[in-house]
Amino acid sequence: MLDFTEHNLTDAVVDRFGACENPRLKQIVQAITRHAHAFVKEVELTQEEWVEAIDFLTKTGHMCDDRRQEFILLSDVFGVSMLVDAINHRMPEGTTETTVLGPFYLGEHKLTANGATLVSEEEGDPIFIEGTIKAPSGSPIVDAVIDMWHTDAEGLYDAQKPELHGAPKMRAQFKSDAQGRFWFKSVVPSSYPIPNDGPVGKLLDATKRHYMRPAHIHFHISAPGYETLVTHVFLAGDPWLESDAVFGVKKSLIADLTKSNASHYPDNTPAPKSWDLLHYDFGLKPAKNS
Ligand code: BEZ
Ligand code: FE
Repeated sequence: MLDFTEHNLTDAVVDRFGACENPRLKQIVQAITRHAHAFVKEVELTQEEWVEAIDFLTKTGHMCDDRRQEFILLSDVFGVSMLVDAINHRMPEGTTETTVLGPFYLGEHKLTANGATLVSEEEGDPIFIEGTIKAPSGSPIVDAVIDMWHTDAEGLYDAQKPELHGAPKMRAQFKSDAQGRFWFKSVVPSSYPIPNDGPVGKLLDATKRHYMRPAHIHFHISAPGYETLVTHVFLAGDPWLESDAVFGVKKSLIADLTKSNASHYPDNTPAPKSWDLLHYDFGLKPAKNS
């Protein structure tokens, strides 16, 4: 066929993919074709805008290396990461909702004893974080592996602090005890801007969007027979909860901090003058074939 026009080109490209033998790949490439063409028609994309879009994507690629993933950030700020998460994690009653993994997960962290202090109390507002890992029935899950990470009081992850020379801080791995519990001490994390020195930051500037994520603690929790849970616990009262730059907040993931002046933490170790308690119980979803 010759003489492709704005009226017949979409069908021609969709047809050209028609011989694809992998049904899922065929569905995806044909749908991308239809949606991309519909987008170009809807906004009547100019030649200059098309060149600018290609330049933007080229710069996004150039920004990526093994420590920086600008394409994921792009997906995050368009809400695509959360949409993929939402349709893949329709969680049943008694289980914890999921949210984005984010770029600061570094794989399995160092196994650490419950009760450990991850950051000394001089470096921020002391916090005691505790929770239980449960099945939907409410029964505790023993030996669940809990990887967690959070920022310091200034909103920086350890990976963003060159003075740490790659040493882990504010990140660790715990195992739930015989009652399904874990607990540790740290400092209250802060809200922080997502990386904004690349094309995604420029896009947010140009569209008058801010870079901020509300303060949170990341959790990656796994146990045999259950789906791995990737989520955060957000701190109630944070001013950025309603407008998270990556759309990751869910009401059920927001927890209150309870101020305490007790002389001891819940694990009976001495506490500073004043500290916060954060308690959150997690429900894991049974794996499909267990
Ligand atoms: C994070 O929570 O660490 C994060 C998530 C998405 C983009 C940037 C950071
Ligand atoms: Fe984060």
